[in-house]
Amino acid sequence: MNFSKLAGASVIALAGMAYACGGGSDTKTEETTTAAPVPQKELSFDEMYKDNPDYVNGLALVKESDCPSCHMVERKIVGPAYKDVAAKYESTDENIQTLATNVVNGNSGVWGQVPMPAHPGLSEEDAQKMVKYILMLKK
Ligand code: HEC
Repeated sequence: MNFSKLAGASVIALAGMAYACGGGSDTKTEETTTAAPVPQKELSFDEMYKDNPDYVNGLALVKESDCPSCHMVERKIVGPAYKDVAAKYESTDENIQTLATNVVNGNSGVWGQVPMPAHPGLSEEDAQKMVKYILMLKK
């Protein structure tokens, strides 16, 4: 009897079985999409916050004031873009107060050498509403 030849044959048999058992994993069914394609348009801030009074009131105050002559939402003109201001400061009560004071009293040196003039006719309260709106302009 040749035992070593027999043992060799059974190893091959076992290996063959293991291979056969491992082959059952690629029976995944194709996923079918039946839903209509959702338009991937990015919402504007106006659309995102149209029902948020902080946004609506702050925006109205900013529009009535001289802010738009130096500030835009998306792009730096004379002053920094509102979205850059929003990215720099978290919307905390403390930041809103500090920035509102800077708007009322004027400020310089944070964003460059051009100063923001004082707004003596503006109340702290309105300035805070404006700043609250500006700090919402985060994507
Ligand atoms: C004559 C141009 C001008 C006008 C008008 C103006 N800004 Fe500015 N604003 C600037 C400039 C310039 C800076 C950057 C000042 C600095 O570097 O500290 C600035 C900075 C700011 C900042 C950031 C302040 C900080 O400490 O980081 C806020 C908030 C802001 N403006 C809001 C307003 C609002 C609200 C109004 C309207 C009431 C307004 N600005 C009107 C020019 C202007």
